Parts: sequence; C-alpha cells; structure tokens
Amino acid sequence: MSAKTMTVAGIMSGTSADGIDVAVVRIAPGKSRGGLARPRLTLLAHESFAFPAALRRPVLAAMNATSTSTAELARLNWRLGLAYAEAVSATLEQHPTKLDLIGCHGQTLYHQPRAAAYAGRSFACTWQAGEAAVIAATLGIPVVSNFRPADMLAGGQGAPLVPLLDYMLFASPKRGRVLQNIGGIANLTAIPAGAAPEAAIAFDTGPGNMVIDALAQQLFGKAFDRNGAFAAEGAVLAPVLAAALRNPYFRLKPPRTAGREQFGREYAAKFLTACRRHSDKPEDALATATALTAETIAQSYKRFVKPKMKGGVDYIVSGGGARNHTLMAMLAQRLEPLGCELAGSEDFGLPVEAKEAAAFALLAWQTWHHRFGNVPAATGATRPAILGQVTYA
Ligand SMILES: Nc1ncnc2c1ncn2[C@@H]1O[C@H](COP(=O)(O)OP(=O)(O)O)[C@@H](O)[C@H]1O
Ligand SMILES: [Mg+2]
Repeated sequence: MSAKTMTVAGIMSGTSADGIDVAVVRIAPGKSRGGLARPRLTLLAHESFAFPAALRRPVLAAMNATSTSTAELARLNWRLGLAYAEAVSATLEQHPTKLDLIGCHGQTLYHQPRAAAYAGRSFACTWQAGEAAVIAATLGIPVVSNFRPADMLAGGQGAPLVPLLDYMLFASPKRGRVLQNIGGIANLTAIPAGAAPEAAIAFDTGPGNMVIDALAQQLFGKAFDRNGAFAAEGAVLAPVLAAALRNPYFRLKPPRTAGREQFGREYAAKFLTACRRHSDKPEDALATATALTAETIAQSYKRFVKPKMKGGVDYIVSGGGARNHTLMAMLAQRLEPLGCELAGSEDFGLPVEAKEAAAFALLAWQTWHHRFGNVPAATGATRPAILGQVTYA
C-alpha cells in the first residue's frame, strides 16, 4: 500500500489516571533511513483534559481492583469511549482541523506481561479499555485501538510502544539519546549515536509519579505534588529509600514493564508506613518518594544504558513528571555526573504532555498502512508486528 499524508489524532491516558492527552499530528511519508521508512511528523495541536472526579474514581478503582463486577467494567469501557470522543471534539473546537484517523491507546485496566496459569492454560495478557466504536461513531472517523496484544502474541511484553516514535524523531548520528517519560510509571528509550532500531534499549525504570501522587493525595488531599513544592520542603529519609531500592523489580534485566500491580495503592501504603517510622513530617515522605523515582531512573541508566553509550548523551524528559521541579533537580544531580545533558522534550519541539499521544497517532498511521508498530528490541518480541485493530466509522 502506498503511504498517504494524513492528519491523525493520538489519544493517550496513562497509569496516572489523571486524564486524557490528545495530539493532532500531520504525518507524511518520508525517506527510508537505516532500513526504516521514517514518516515526517508535524505537531498541529495538543490539549490535555483532566478526568472529572466522577470518572477518575471508577478508573482508579478498576485499576486497583482485585475484584469488580462485569457490569461495572462494561459501563466503564463505554464511558471511557465517550470521554475520549469528547476530548477529541474539544481539541478540534480549539484547533479546527479535518481529521483522517484516530489512534487511541485506551486505559490500561490490567497488564500481565508474563505467562500465568488461568483456566487450564498459561498466557500473558493485557486489557486497555475505552470502546473504539463509540469514538468512531461519535466523530465519524476511523479509530485504531488495542495496540498491545499483537506485540504480546509476537512474544513481547506489549510495552513500551513509544520507542518507534522515539527512534523516528530522535535518533541522531552524532549524539546518544535517552527519551525518558515520567508518567505514572517511568520508562526510557535509549538510542546510541548512529544506532539501528535493533540496538535501541527500552524498559520501564520503575515508579514515575505514581507513588508521589498517592502520597500527595493521602497526606495533602491533592491529586499531585504541583511543581514538586511539597517535596522541596522535605528531607529524603535515607533508610527508607535504601530499603525501597532493594525491591527485586529494580534488579530485573530489561525488557521489563511495571504498573499499578507493582507500584499501586498497596505499595504506596507500605512506603508511607516505612516513612512514618522515621519522620512524622509529610513533606519528608514526599521527598523520599520523589528521590525513589530519581534514583531508580539514574540507576537504570547507569547499569543498563551507559555501558552502551559513547560520547555525549542528551537525556530528554517528557510526561507530567517533567513539570516536577524537585524531581528534575534530583535527576540532574544524578545524571549530569554520568555525562548526560538533561532537557525537556519541548526543547526538541514536542511539548512534554504531547509525546505519548503523538506516538499513538504515529502507530495508528503505521497500522493503517499495514506497517509494523513495535520495536522488537524494546518489547522483547521475536518479530515486528502490525498493531491493533481498525474500527471503521
Ligand atoms: N505541574 C506539575 N507538577 C508536578 N507534577 C505534575 C505536574 N503536572 C503533571 N504532573 C504529574 O504528572 C502526572 C501525569 O503525567 P502523565 O504524563 O499524564 O502520566 P500518565 O501517562 O501516567 O497519565 C500527574 O499525575 C502528576 O503526578
Ligand atoms: Mg496522563
């Protein structure tokens, strides 16, 4: 199929369950470099929408649930479809554009990257909710959704899927590049200077904002620690941090993925109990949670990425965590001595809230053209796969 220039909206809502990011991207077929056809992307618009409390509550409940009802899940799936459609409509009202296609990641309610026994069979599985038919019918535009299963069936962990965009936009012949996203979970894509896609490294470093958000909620009644202001007033509790760093997750070799299953509510509750043994100042708990994110990112880089990098490295941060000044300062303090130059993705033309949404616009465009979307080196898949399914309007 010959590739077409299209205007594509990408919709992302991540494990923070803070809301929906929409990016509208013009995607044109580009030249092939390093054996990979690289389309040209132009960001036309991006908007973020907080989930209304009435929706955030059931989303968080379903993500953290050990049991829930079938009716609840069916309704939530439909309601999320409505929320995504409304988010795209509101974006188009602000930035009138004729869309050709939508790529919707959906809300991960469950992600189990490793095989486990169930009903007499053993398999890995994943589920992103948000009814694509609701979006396609509401807007009259075809939707690509459900991106992760095809990668898992190719032997991958179904995540991360942003590395294709990272590679296409950021790979440099001269500089090593690390694309660090800090959402609920933090993940990185590392591309050594001049490397082919097969040499990219990508994995989840650990918690991003998830533990910080849980503590901000519990200790201050806030959805998150705006600009890192609470953490800036606290001191890191060294014994709590050291104990947290002994978590076996941080010793896993990449590829590895994490979610609320590892760093959700239960984890945050235990973390807070440990903090309270050492200090009754709530700011100290937030400083310690923030240091956990920074330290696990820096350790991940040092152990798994730095040995593969030569020369200068741009360490490019995206996701809501890039807005947390205390976290960024802690990262700079740890990464700069390792030879990294810290930057925000906006310094490279992509606002920090837009990158993941733009990635799902690109993945939808790839699927529309029957092109591969996963980077096997990133997910651990044995082969490239065409991701997701198309719901026609
Ligand atoms: N101004 C800010 N200061 C501190 N943290 C912020 C700020 N804005 C966003 N965040 C953090 O970013 C999170 C959302 O990041 P996002 O990239 O949308 O993650 P996800 O992909 O998991 O939804 C929020 O939950 C919050 O923790
Ligand atoms: Mg979000």
